[in-house]
Amino acid sequence: MDNNRSSFGSNFGFLMAAIGSAVGLGNIWGFPYKMGKSGGFTFLLVYLLLAVFVGFIIMVSELAIGRKTRLSPIDAYRAVSQKYRWIGWLAVAAPFLVMSFYAVLGGYVLQYMSLNLAELSFGLSNIFSQQITGTATFGAMLTNPFGCFFFTLLFMVICMVIVMGGVSGGIERFNKVGMPALAVMLLIVIVRSLTLPNAVEGLKFMFVPGYAVKGGFIEEMPGLISVLGTAGGQMFFSLSLAMGAILTYGSYLGKEENLVSNSITIVAADTLIAIMAGIAVIPAAVANGINNGVPVNEIALNGPKLLFVTLQDVFSNMGKAGPLFGVIFYLLVLLAAISSAISLMEAVGAHWIDMDLKAGKGDTRKRITLIVSILITAAALIVAVDGLGSNNIHPAALLGITGPVPDVIADWLDFMDCWSEGIAMPLGAMLMALMIGWERSPELVLEEVGHGNHSPFFAKFYSVCIRYVAPVVMAFVLAGQMIGFFGGPEALWYAVAFVSLAAFAGFTLAGRKKAE
Ligand code: PHE
Repeated sequence: MDNNRSSFGSNFGFLMAAIGSAVGLGNIWGFPYKMGKSGGFTFLLVYLLLAVFVGFIIMVSELAIGRKTRLSPIDAYRAVSQKYRWIGWLAVAAPFLVMSFYAVLGGYVLQYMSLNLAELSFGLSNIFSQQITGTATFGAMLTNPFGCFFFTLLFMVICMVIVMGGVSGGIERFNKVGMPALAVMLLIVIVRSLTLPNAVEGLKFMFVPGYAVKGGFIEEMPGLISVLGTAGGQMFFSLSLAMGAILTYGSYLGKEENLVSNSITIVAADTLIAIMAGIAVIPAAVANGINNGVPVNEIALNGPKLLFVTLQDVFSNMGKAGPLFGVIFYLLVLLAAISSAISLMEAVGAHWIDMDLKAGKGDTRKRITLIVSILITAAALIVAVDGLGSNNIHPAALLGITGPVPDVIADWLDFMDCWSEGIAMPLGAMLMALMIGWERSPELVLEEVGHGNHSPFFAKFYSVCIRYVAPVVMAFVLAGQMIGFFGGPEALWYAVAFVSLAAFAGFTLAGRKKAE
């Protein structure tokens, strides 16, 4: 049936592509800060446990469903489930929405790389006799919608060309060079960061339990339940789970490859790079703040500000070598963003590429990718022009709401993020676990994993995790995301999440006896 369907050229190529998808902006600006703020090693421990018991399990499941069906998400879910035939649509809508802001962030990274390159090549700051500061640059960038849109477009064109090149000729080829290059550049930045005076304060923030409070970075530690939600959400996004991307890549993987060891490699590499990224950025950011007399609780260590304000200041204050490190760093981030973006675009377009192939229309990858790119760019236009809410076209402004508003309507980036990462991702993963664990049976995945001869320990472990652990953890993640995006009484969101879980569990089990 799928004679002409694309596939990866080698297992190494697949691994680079999957790790490329996982390693992205989430690793660089989400993980290190959340780790520090949520208790250093405690957070790391919770993160690792969740990664082993849930992330790894869902990773194996997605790869198995993709490879078993050799279909894109929409058709793959249709093929394996009666009750959840429609989840595949979540796994196309979610990556589409993520791309609408990921492309804009990619555009920001391109702008910063160009800025540092210009400084390096012909000394911009000398020409304008003014130092490049993070705050001024960021402000100027956000309030320049044309510039933001132009660079978003440029980012989209780069990704589009790679995806048009095909699975092995474009995606795999880019990642095989890009990922090792990223690792080398990351090591260079780590060495520079750790040799700055006071860098050790940043290391303590990340790794010493409770130091974020003791060191004066934040006022109080979050509770364990909220750490669970934060770590779970972070882990899912970082591992590219429940967004169709991993499932789609799995559908291009050869039958002889080992899904368990591949999943372990991907999870381990993603976590390692997240920790390394933290060691590269947090000590530099903290050291630069302290060395310039900024109170530690005022150093921006989170989100866009970490990358585009705090770190630009680090490079600007570094003297002659600053712009060189700036170029290396933003290029590294750009590679991470592109390798994630292309997996999201592939997940969106794969269904239509497959459909045309089946209909005998041949390989229409180029045309479909062009259409997908145009649609994403159109959605990204809103996010780009919005400038993280700087230009008064954010949802709250359009609704005429003033005063403090919940995150979801504060800017268009958060709005898109809420539906995709906030709702579709945890819900999709929860339903997928119920579908495999209770509607079908864990055997569905185990069979594909081991072709009938997987180890009994793995079978037991997998079955328990997919049936019990994953759905419950996903309910916590869902609640955590809702609290973050909508605010309000936490108990309300826990109730919503767990009532949904109970309802879906009931729905999944209903009629099961009769059918048997
Ligand atoms: N994992 C990527 C990151 O950490 C984002 C991503 C999510 C990519 C889902 C693909 C699918 O930034």
